[in-house]
Amino acid sequence: MGGRYEETHRRSIADPEGFWAEAAEAIHWNRRWDRVLDDSGKPFYRWFTGGELNTCYNALDYHVERGRADQAALVYDSPVTSTRRTYTYRELRDETARFAGALAAAGVGKGDRVIVYMPMVPEAAIAMLACARLGAIHSVVFGGFAANELAVRIDDAKPKVIVSASCGIEPGRIVQYKPLLDRAIELAKHAVERTIVLQRAAHPCDLVAGRDLDWAQAMAAARPHDCVPVAATDPLYVLYTSGTTGQPKGVVRDNGGHAVALKWTMKNIYGVEPGEVFWAASDVGWVVGHSYIVYAPLLNGNTTILYEGKPVGTPDAGAFWRVLAEHQVSVMFTAPTAFRAIKKEDPKGTLIGDYDLSRFRTLFLAGERTDPDTLHWAEEKLKVPVIDHWWQTETGWSICANCMGIEQLPVKAGSPTRAAPGMDVQVVDEGCNRLPAGQIGALVVKLPLPPGSLPTLWNADQRFVDAYLAEFPGYYKTADAGYIDEDGYVFVMARTDDIINVAGHRLSTGGMEEVLASHPDVAECAVIGVADQLKGQLPLGFLVLNAGVERGDAEIVSECVKLVREQIGPVAAFKTAVVVKRLPKTRSGKILRGTMRSIADRESWKMPATIDDPATLDEITESLRGVGYAG
Ligand code: COA
Ligand code: AMP
Repeated sequence: MGGRYEETHRRSIADPEGFWAEAAEAIHWNRRWDRVLDDSGKPFYRWFTGGELNTCYNALDYHVERGRADQAALVYDSPVTSTRRTYTYRELRDETARFAGALAAAGVGKGDRVIVYMPMVPEAAIAMLACARLGAIHSVVFGGFAANELAVRIDDAKPKVIVSASCGIEPGRIVQYKPLLDRAIELAKHAVERTIVLQRAAHPCDLVAGRDLDWAQAMAAARPHDCVPVAATDPLYVLYTSGTTGQPKGVVRDNGGHAVALKWTMKNIYGVEPGEVFWAASDVGWVVGHSYIVYAPLLNGNTTILYEGKPVGTPDAGAFWRVLAEHQVSVMFTAPTAFRAIKKEDPKGTLIGDYDLSRFRTLFLAGERTDPDTLHWAEEKLKVPVIDHWWQTETGWSICANCMGIEQLPVKAGSPTRAAPGMDVQVVDEGCNRLPAGQIGALVVKLPLPPGSLPTLWNADQRFVDAYLAEFPGYYKTADAGYIDEDGYVFVMARTDDIINVAGHRLSTGGMEEVLASHPDVAECAVIGVADQLKGQLPLGFLVLNAGVERGDAEIVSECVKLVREQIGPVAAFKTAVVVKRLPKTRSGKILRGTMRSIADRESWKMPATIDDPATLDEITESLRGVGYAG
């Protein structure tokens, strides 16, 4: 007999329908479902088919009608503008209903797409919820992406309206969003006829007459719009994430399964009761922001914090402790990189002593593996449980976690603990055979995935099958490699594709290579992710120049750095590249990126048997030394 965790997990796998039907009772349905799990279209699974609901109703109106109208729903805390603003559930409902009216007046209806390209302001959450209210599908694009990335998303999502802001505020600089938005609209093939732009005092922008509406004016002219019931299986949002090429994957999230799963996670994974304050220090442009700044805390009747600032520098490494104390946060969620940044500035954690953290109970970390140093530092300084949990944009919530609301399991450093209920996590070899405990292989999840996980990719059913389901029949491929130990603890070790994780941000090295290859002097290139103490990984480029290029290497490298920043965005953090004569390859022409990474990171490595010319690795080692890698 196991404990409560084992019992819950066993039940979720043995009887998924019973398990999730029970969880679904916590959601308000306009029409109950016909089937909990619909597998009639295998390998595409649908949850709660026949059911109808509205996600915004469940996140806002439901609480207003049931005694939480005057409770804080969202607290906007912005050290970069010295602003604090609290929205009660009633106020957030009213603002959202009005903005839904503004969107409707701009022609947005059920099923239409709306792109949200905004900094961390409450209006971003309001725009998302307003789309949900109308049954429209939002697609939030992270503000650190450049115009070209936005244009790619515009062409894929074909939005009726784009909601944006005049600027974002990064420490030390204003990011003008409007020129990026204008450029993206110009680059895109899909015609964008309407934008709604929030004017921010830090840098108001010019509006294009006939196309751009001012947010404040659109709100003043709008009438509140009611919630539109949608099918449980209708998409709530599309969130683009890095794939193995420059063409990002549009991860689709449904309404029903998402609401059921996310509300369930608040109590069962995060151990949070309605009414408590929950803070996810992330960005609405990432899945963490979608799930745990906006939807889950609101579905659960919590107060959520929307923080426009950084862990350090706004103004100092005590910023997180200030927010925790000032807003009486019970549970916080962020990425390990944020803690590494704090630890670097205040290694002794002296600033923690300046704040009353008596309400603070648990710290959750995700986005990348929590390295044992960071784990132990946070445990020691904060004296609360520190929980690493593993998930992906695709799953929308944890694949593995220490479920604090079910049973707190002992923490093992380096492991996100055990499979979350609903997730049947296994390790398999290339032939899809299960591997014994301790052996590294592909981490896969047996189908069906639980509610809230992606049902498909936007307008790309076949790509969904090819990318996630084809390689290991009957399983979802996470594209992470790792192992499960004797106690069932999962260890996530590395990606099996070209994705790298920079400061908790997921980026494709293949996408960067596409940009570098477009430079007229570059004949061939490779990008690898090298270890970085602060950000986890950083991209590093190798450039082979065309014969006859006379210009200096430094000039070309700096142009390439600029190109990646312009094409992908500052978030790529692409700052280093080296010019090399040749790239190391196998005899069949495959670039030996893995070996190059091992050399850069000073790991032990073996000469690949299939290498075409071993001398190329000596040349690479020499070049790496020149930029501070490879020892
Ligand atoms: N809009 C415009 N630019 C942005 C941006 C945004 N929303 N977010 C980041 N950028 C820019 C930064 O200003 C920086 O630009 P620079 O090259 O001119 O300095 C660049 O993108 C890289 O940003 P980032 O990787 O965040 O590095 P940083 O040095 O600014 O900060 C940390 C490092 C660790 C403090 C920061 O990454 C952080 O707070 N991470 C928290 C974790 C997190 O949010 N994870 C998301 C998933 S949970
Ligand atoms: P994203 O889709 O941006 O959330 O990135 C998902 C990827 O980040 C995963 O596939 C992992 O490679 C990595 N990741 C996220 N959380 C963890 C974690 N707790 N441990 C190890 N890797 C993680």
